[in-house]
Formats: sequence, C-alpha cells, structure tokens
Amino acid sequence: MTHFLDINKTDASALCDIIDSAISMKQARAGAPKGTADADQPLDGRMVALIFEKPSTRTRVSFDVGVRQMGGQTMVLSGADMQLGHGETIADTARVMSRYVDLIMIRTFEEATLLEMAEHATVPVINGLTNRTHPCQIMADVMTFEEHRGPIKGKKVVWSGDGNNVFASFAHAAGQFGFDLTFTGPEPLDPEYGFLEEARAKGANVVIERNPHVAVEGADLVVTDTWVSMHDPQSARERRHNQLRGYQVNAELMAKANPDALFMHCLPAHRDDEATSEVMDGPHSVIFDEAENRLHVQKAIMRHCLGV
Ligand code: CP
Ligand code: NVA
Repeated sequence: MTHFLDINKTDASALCDIIDSAISMKQARAGAPKGTADADQPLDGRMVALIFEKPSTRTRVSFDVGVRQMGGQTMVLSGADMQLGHGETIADTARVMSRYVDLIMIRTFEEATLLEMAEHATVPVINGLTNRTHPCQIMADVMTFEEHRGPIKGKKVVWSGDGNNVFASFAHAAGQFGFDLTFTGPEPLDPEYGFLEEARAKGANVVIERNPHVAVEGADLVVTDTWVSMHDPQSARERRHNQLRGYQVNAELMAKANPDALFMHCLPAHRDDEATSEVMDGPHSVIFDEAENRLHVQKAIMRHCLGV
C-alpha cells in the first residue's frame, strides 16, 4: 500500500519524481480551461473520498478538480457528518470506506487518526493536514521554488513565525530535498525539536536564530504562516500575537534576504499580521503559484499512490 502520510515517509527519489511529474502535467495542460480533461486519464473509473474534519478552501477544491481532470470521481465528506464523528472507530471507518473508494484523502486534527486510518484502510491514504504536518502543501512549495529558481538543494529557507504543522513539513523536506532551514520565532512557539534533529541526521543544516533580521540574511526563500492555526484555541490568540509580532514578514525584513529571494505563505493569510500586504502582493511573492501548484502536485501524489 503506497500511502502519502508525510514527506519523511516517502523515498527522496519518489518525492523528486512526484515534483517532475507535477511540472510536466502542469505544462501539458497549460492554458486549458480548468474543467478540461487531461490527455491521460489515469484515474478513469476511480473513486476518491475527500474527508474534512476542519475547514478548507485550497485542499478541498484542488483535490476535487485534480481527480476530475484525471478522469476520476470524488465525494467530499465532512467528518462531523460521518459516523466517525459519532463514535464509530477509525479502524472500522477505514475498512468500510475501502470497500467503496479507491483512495482516501483526510484532513484531521490528531495525527493518530490519520495513522490509524492508514493502518486499517486497504486503499492508499493521503494526509491533507493534521495538527502536526501538512505534506501536500510543502510538496507544492518545493515545486514552486524549483519552477522559479531551479533545484532547492543547497538553498537557504527561512521560516519566520510559529513552529507549526506547516513548518514541520518544511523540516521533513529539508532532510529529503537537502536544503538549509532556519527557524526564527519566539522560544515558546518553537517546533518540536525532533523534527529539527531528524532533518539534521539526514545532513540538512537546520538552525534556530531568535533574531529575524539575522535569520533572513542570505535567504533564498522566506516563509511564514498564520499565527493561530485551526487547532490552536482562540483563547491563545492575543498571547500569540504578542509573541509573534516581531516576526512579521514585512518589506524591511525581506530587504535583508537575497535580492532574488522568494516569499511564500500557504494561505489562508491574515494580512498585515504575519505578513504585510506589501510583501504578499510584492515582487518576491509567489503565494498564488503555490496555491495553484497544490492542484498539480497532488495529481502527481495521487498517481504515485495508485501506481498509475
Ligand atoms: N493551504 C491550505 O491547505 O489551505 P486550505 O486550508 O484552504 O485547504
Ligand atoms: N497552520 C495552518 C495551516 C492552514 C493551511 C493551520 O493548521 O491552520
């Protein structure tokens, strides 16, 4: 069974193949209306379930459109509307769903839910975000970097802000794709150190630098994300804003990165909190390419999982 659960759980060579496949599929349909079928229809006859326990715009729409472009069919399910939300076990849900569909994508809270789903499903399972990681997003980000700047290997990526689930997948990617990664943020919001250690064990240069202006020197890519994630309690909002204010990505900070540095944000953004509109809409920003590339890279991930 070929699941796509995290970037550190798929071979580095397969990850590179996924990026290459995504770029060629994107090029092959350049300019076509979004509803046009791809010339290849590798998902012909396949049914894909998209399960959401949290809100989504990009993940939901890009997976749905991607499956349809490849000839498959989708059903979008809210976790709360399934028996899953009313006490049916994840294991039983996985076994049942596997009798109806050929692939399951799930966005959930606890990583344990994803892992249990994968353990008991007899069809591939894709991680569409958990509290801990967001691998599809970072595959799109690596693709976007490489489209604009060539290989990401050896480049310097700087994350400014909360050490959250999106950062964690960047740490996985640093180990697998071989780029340097600097985290800059307040100590209480540090990522789990295990993510950093694992990337270091794979040879990536991963550091924590508390001063954002020092951190971004020499950066080829500056990344941030929301200061309050979907799994964070709203009661923590004010404290987090106070802790993170100094890590806002603004024009002054971007000016300290390399002149051709890119700026990324997985979106949704809170404009003028974690990043200013000047940066988000400015010359370094590739945020909408990132969003588009979710579509292309997830098509390649689904093909990888299904072996088609
Ligand atoms: N970036 C991302 O995953 O966006 P959605 O929450 O809209 O899916
Ligand atoms: N860190 C954010 C990412 C949203 C795509 C969250 O988990 O809410």
